[in-house]
Amino acid sequence: MNDSTNLKLVSRADWGEADGKKVYLYTLTNKNGMVVTITNYGGVVTSWTMPDKNNNKGNIVLGFNELKGYQAPPPYFGALIGRYGNRIANGKFTLDGKEYKLATNNDKNHLHGGNKGFDKVVWDATPSTDSSALTLNYLSKDGEEGYPGNLKVTVKYTLTDNDELRIVYDAETDKATPVNLTNHSYFNLTGDVSNNILNHSLSIDADRYTPVDKTLIPTGELKAVSGTPFDFKTSKLIGTDIGKVPGGYDHNFVLNGTSGSMRKVAVLSDSTSGRQLTVFTTEPGLQFYSGNFLDGKLQTSDGKSINKHTGLCLETQHFPDSPNKPAFPSTILKPGEKYHTETTYAVAVVK
Ligand code: GLA
Repeated sequence: MNDSTNLKLVSRADWGEADGKKVYLYTLTNKNGMVVTITNYGGVVTSWTMPDKNNNKGNIVLGFNELKGYQAPPPYFGALIGRYGNRIANGKFTLDGKEYKLATNNDKNHLHGGNKGFDKVVWDATPSTDSSALTLNYLSKDGEEGYPGNLKVTVKYTLTDNDELRIVYDAETDKATPVNLTNHSYFNLTGDVSNNILNHSLSIDADRYTPVDKTLIPTGELKAVSGTPFDFKTSKLIGTDIGKVPGGYDHNFVLNGTSGSMRKVAVLSDSTSGRQLTVFTTEPGLQFYSGNFLDGKLQTSDGKSINKHTGLCLETQHFPDSPNKPAFPSTILKPGEKYHTETTYAVAVVK
């Protein structure tokens, strides 16, 4: 039917103000009644509501229902991360013979774009002419957080009728700069933060991962996962081996298959709710972070404490510290080039 009077649009609610700009909460819906809310503050996915196997609806991502939750110091719930996802050692890199110094906001390292990364800025938002998509634009100015070049970034979120949240990232620069964009959603497929994620099953299509030093900077080695707690080649409960990983999982997996082409890279499932999440990406890496730094200090809007391991991230990305690791796939974007990556999070209920 092509009756424009029945056309459902992305709805928009006032959500406050930051940096003198209006902040809104946008609601994307699909024909199955799935609902994803996204704010133009940090491009944060604030909620994703879907049914479980008994048709009870629940929110599968950690988030707050007020802007101020996101303005406080990180855990980066649901946010767009940039200019560089994850860490750059000592907040320094050299490009074309020049050393650049970045904000050091994670002990001596640079993390997730610095003190005011893309998760803390107000994006310009354009909703689609139906209920399905939101395009966000941000101009990161030359010198922001120490990075060279004016970087024009566009991120498009689309909620498809196949119950997928597609995220397409595009960028262009006027000076060579590292770029590594991702989304930092924390999933808990039970829909209830009273449950942790240790009983979720996870598979990751990766034969290798990048071991890290004490400050979580990759050593440079690409290590085989076989025979280690990092072997998720076949699905296993996250709790099975987490005790053997000091601090918990917070590691970049070297994804199999051809980077640049869209492929299935991870499947997360929770047998109690029947909910399943499948991740597809063009990226070469995936940061599996098991919510190790969540410590009960933050609460959800319904007053429940967000404890350790109550959410997990599957951040599609280039490898951490690539600007200082010439053997890793390059993250340098040059003038005239187009940065383009895609990631899809697809959900389903398995009965
Ligand atoms: C990433 C990092 C973690 C942590 C979280 C945010 O996933 O790898 O070490 O900093 O972000 O808390």
